[in-house]
Amino acid sequence: MAKVMVGKASDIPEGKMVHVTAGGKEVLVANVGGKYYATGDICTHAGAELHEGQLEGKELTCPWHGSKWDVTTGDLIWFPQKLKPLGKYSVIVENGTVYVEV
Ligand code: FES
Repeated sequence: MAKVMVGKASDIPEGKMVHVTAGGKEVLVANVGGKYYATGDICTHAGAELHEGQLEGKELTCPWHGSKWDVTTGDLIWFPQKLKPLGKYSVIVENGTVYVEV
């Protein structure tokens, strides 16, 4: 498993999402209530980049067709059809820097 730097914690304030390519994977990192969570960034419906969607609390809405995801788990909250989960990654915060393990 590789530890990849995402950025400064201060650059990812509460309610914000960022995107990083780590270990060949597209990863979304979100700050929900002061805690950082990482999931896959690509919507499993048709491939939208989810960091361009809307985040409200832990609920992320896909910018293309409105699927709703829980960014703390990578699981689907709502869509008319079943979609594969986004996957989840571990986040580490050290000395004010955020890292993701992929
Ligand atoms: S690509 Fe995300 S809901 Fe269709």
